[in-house]
Amino acid sequence: MSNNKTHWENIYKNNNFKNVSWFQEKPTTISFIDNLNLSKDCKIIDVGAGASYLGKTLIDKGYKNITINDISALSIEISQSHNIHNLKKVSFLIGDITNLKLPKNYFNLWHDRAVFHFLTEKEKREKYINQIRKSLLIHGYIIISVFSLDGPKKCSSLTIKQYDETTLSSELGECFKLINFSYSNHLTPSNKKQNFITCCFKLIKK
Ligand SMILES: C[S@@+](CC[C@H](N)C(=O)[O-])C[C@H]1O[C@@H](n2cnc3c(N)ncnc32)[C@H](O)[C@@H]1O
Repeated sequence: MSNNKTHWENIYKNNNFKNVSWFQEKPTTISFIDNLNLSKDCKIIDVGAGASYLGKTLIDKGYKNITINDISALSIEISQSHNIHNLKKVSFLIGDITNLKLPKNYFNLWHDRAVFHFLTEKEKREKYINQIRKSLLIHGYIIISVFSLDGPKKCSSLTIKQYDETTLSSELGECFKLINFSYSNHLTPSNKKQNFITCCFKLIKK
């Protein structure tokens, strides 16, 4: 068991999922997905989904093919309980997204809220970006939401890397075209403000 996995298993073991700082009763990045007007048959992966309600929200909107990933098996159990009546429409993938075996040329949309910013090592970020390039269909979309330059320097007591739209675009590289972005303040369950930047990219070449 890697240290990173142990950290996250302990988070979900020792806390109610609704009390963790990143919890949202209504996932705000859904507005980025709504704006894309994707077909309800499209394939969406939420990486590092934790116990988020995003998958359930998408199913409630009519999407039929959702993949929920997390490094923590416990968080996936919670996520399964959110989606208990729709298990045919949801696949669960436990593992580190930087080295998990993913289907090739499969997803239409890759969604990440508060995961990419934990990748403080360049090598890990390169692996993550390669995973997108392999598993996403050409002209597919990527939504990444991370702490902004005005946001916290740590998340879940771990050091993170902050971004703005320029640094996130240059990190992803020339295969990805920035479509739109916005800044927002997330209010944690203990009423602290955390500034996020959410960017939507399109995969324009492989
Ligand atoms: C800050 S939480 C965000 C959870 C969720 N995306 C949300 O917005 O509610 C980060 C999540 O990423 C997961 N995680 C961290 N590193 C990961 C990795 N390398 N691969 C997959 N999941 C990871 C953690 O277990 C945790 O659930």
